[in-house]
Amino acid sequence: MPLGKRKVRFPHAQKPNRPTSSIPMTSAMNPSDSKARPGIPALFTQPPPIRDPLITETIDLQNATLEKCLPFLKGIHSTQKDFNDHGVPALQRDLHISYLYDALEDYPEGFVAMDASRPWIVYWALAGLAMMGEETTRFRERVITTLRPMQNPTGGFGGGHGQTSHLAGSYAAVLSLAMVGGEEAFGLVDRHAMWQWIGRLKQPDGGFRVCEGGEEDVRGAYCAMTLISLLDLPLTLAPGSQAREAGLESLTSGLPEYLSRCQTFEGGISGSPGSEAHGAYAFCALACLSILGPPEEIFNRHMDIPMLVSWLSARQSAPEGGLSGRTNKLVDGCYSHWVGGCWPLLESSLEGKPDSTEPPANSLFSREGLTRYILGCCQGNDGGLRDKPGKHVDSYHTCYVMAGLSAAQNHHYRTDSSIASNNFSSSFSWKSSPSRDPANVFSRGDRLEPMHPLYVIPHRAAEQMRLWSEAQPLFV
Ligand code: FPP
Ligand code: ZN
Repeated sequence: MPLGKRKVRFPHAQKPNRPTSSIPMTSAMNPSDSKARPGIPALFTQPPPIRDPLITETIDLQNATLEKCLPFLKGIHSTQKDFNDHGVPALQRDLHISYLYDALEDYPEGFVAMDASRPWIVYWALAGLAMMGEETTRFRERVITTLRPMQNPTGGFGGGHGQTSHLAGSYAAVLSLAMVGGEEAFGLVDRHAMWQWIGRLKQPDGGFRVCEGGEEDVRGAYCAMTLISLLDLPLTLAPGSQAREAGLESLTSGLPEYLSRCQTFEGGISGSPGSEAHGAYAFCALACLSILGPPEEIFNRHMDIPMLVSWLSARQSAPEGGLSGRTNKLVDGCYSHWVGGCWPLLESSLEGKPDSTEPPANSLFSREGLTRYILGCCQGNDGGLRDKPGKHVDSYHTCYVMAGLSAAQNHHYRTDSSIASNNFSSSFSWKSSPSRDPANVFSRGDRLEPMHPLYVIPHRAAEQMRLWSEAQPLFV
């Protein structure tokens, strides 16, 4: 919904700006209604002290969401278990692991609509399993067999057999191959055809289309730069590229400027210049910029950082603690990654390369709030994670909710050493260490593995794919 398209409804027709006191009190708004478990600060159990007096569909939805979340935040919902001293339920690790193993098995016919997202199904499950410390190389043969028919001889992977190549599907396919690792998996990618295909997607304004004849957006830019940097593709534009004919020199020409044009009046980042800022695009844009250069340099050159920090901060809601994707919208577990994953990049841009590997004591967002939302509100009863209470679990949310928890639990920083010997060396200079935030409220056994903050796969998987690619013969 575009910004400002709030559907206003005045139930009693006369006075739009009725005083706050006349808003009917729902049970969720009444803090004395049911007591929270001990150890939970009031910030996370009480409705916000200031409420919008205007009754709109948006406000109704927000109040209904709060009502659904409060019992989970208070730790009094009957399905929650194994609380720690902070009143936070344990990560149901074994259930989530078996949910993701099942996600790699056959699907009933009702899932036919997912046939264009097959590399994603593989990626979400492998990434989730990797964060929970499971060995993903065991899936090597199956992943190779599944993905091989989806690669097109003209470059890139489609979302399924016989489908047009798409940058999103290619991103998920290549990240999955990186996670299973090994010569056969890396060698499956036709890097030469991939380079030619990506060259055809590059646009004269600096951005990328997601597929030939398809839309141009920030997802395309991030997916393209992920593929180019992990596969160490040459930056020269292949002959036949529309962008080359328009005078651009390389695959990166005009790209930071294009991303800069996607920052909106709110401070957030939209999918394309002139659209509404959204958290998923913010991550794509910031990760893409961080592939192009060190965040402390490139963010300062191409983003209004105070505005960005302000918009990102407004994405975290209290008392929920979770994150929303855009102004006047609801918390949703997947933004734990799309928005939560922006914070390490921003923190790194403000810190520069730290003198020591000790994580700073403070964060720009509430790691505690996000952890409470994820462990309290997003865990399904039988494994898997979800958007919010009342929603079903799915593998997309399982992956990205976990990625958000992993980002909240770990500190990501850049170092002086990189495994990359030529382009994009700063992308391969990131390290992670456990966050020592005094407000960590998860139990020791609930810590997830860190992921590479730009590629959202384990650091080692990204490094191995890059090293292998660098060792391949040059083709231009
Ligand atoms: C709105 O959904 C969602 C979007 C406008 C963006 C979706 C984009 C992604 C998830 C990123 C894809 C990234 C890659 C790497 C391919 P909505 O209207 O259902 O949700 P909302 O109400 O929370 O905004
Ligand atoms: Zn979601």
